[in-house]
Amino acid sequence: MRARIDLRSDTVTQPSDRMRRAMAAAEVGDDWYGDDPTVNRLQDRVAELTGKQAAIYLPTGTMCNQIALHAYVRSGHLAVCETTAHVGRTEVSSAAALSGVAFRYLTAPDRGLLLGEQVAAALAPDPYDVAVVDLVSIENTHQVGGGSVMSVTAVRDVAATCAAAGVPLYLDGARIFNACAVAGVPVAAYAGAVSSMMLCLSKGLGAPIGSVLAGDAEFIAEARRLKILFGGAWRQAGIMAAAGLIAVEEGPGRLPEDHANARNLAEGVAELLPDSIDPDAVETNILFIDVSGTARRAAEWRDLLADEGLLVTMIGNRIRMLTHVGIGPEAIQAALAAWRRAAKAA
Ligand SMILES: Cc1ncc(COP(=O)(O)O)c(C=O)c1O
Repeated sequence: MRARIDLRSDTVTQPSDRMRRAMAAAEVGDDWYGDDPTVNRLQDRVAELTGKQAAIYLPTGTMCNQIALHAYVRSGHLAVCETTAHVGRTEVSSAAALSGVAFRYLTAPDRGLLLGEQVAAALAPDPYDVAVVDLVSIENTHQVGGGSVMSVTAVRDVAATCAAAGVPLYLDGARIFNACAVAGVPVAAYAGAVSSMMLCLSKGLGAPIGSVLAGDAEFIAEARRLKILFGGAWRQAGIMAAAGLIAVEEGPGRLPEDHANARNLAEGVAELLPDSIDPDAVETNILFIDVSGTARRAAEWRDLLADEGLLVTMIGNRIRMLTHVGIGPEAIQAALAAWRRAAKAA
């Protein structure tokens, strides 16, 4: 049996020994009542890091996004997002079911990165006042865009457009620290440009559970109410928050390793399957291999690779791989060996 290399997502990680020790020793309270000291420390730390007035610790990134949509968008109104954004694609039914929210989709010219001018056109008032936009949402890094990084300047450009139209701007920052590592800026540089944002602790930062929503005090007070409404009022959540505190301190610094590993993987696959990926476009930890030019469909590649001990996912006819804290340079070499064996398989 070959060793299994799991590149399906950066969520498949194991908590570090330090996280497990901190979880075992965590001081806890009942978070419904707001008196879990470890949760409160994590929330304060994220508020400080983002420069926002307040933050709230939630079980998932999806819950952060859904609470934000519910808070900003009136039922029957619209949110603007990029065509392949997580919030408007993967979570489209959640937004419809929980909040009566529909989306106005904008297709970005390059790797999911929305432009201010596109957003401006989408915010033009509807003369009949039927299709009313209450929120613009951006995603950074952009997952389906291949982990692409939106610069602070580009975010400010969209923010200025939103401000001119009086529409709040929300940032799905599930992987914002990956963007920060590439842009060379603190998370506050992005947070300062938007009305509110979320970040995930359970992705590149390696925590087992949890995401944090940050914004002004009034928004977070409403988010606290919605957390209970949506059934997310967990109790001794400090056990998980203890790992989250370590994730925000230790996680960001090692992300460049994930990015270098992803680039090496992209270069190796590009040698094997020319034109399937441009390694120069791999900025962070996500890569897509377009297998349209090969004799096999993505689902066949996925199954062949699994037989060779490499787990991947697919979107359309593209294979998706993510590097993460559990993957070092040796695992990248082993993943490339699996690709080579799969390419030879009948
Ligand atoms: C960009 C983006 N936003 C939000 C989410 C949702 O996060 P969660 O899986 O914690 O609900 C994901 C999950 O992969 C994501 O990639």
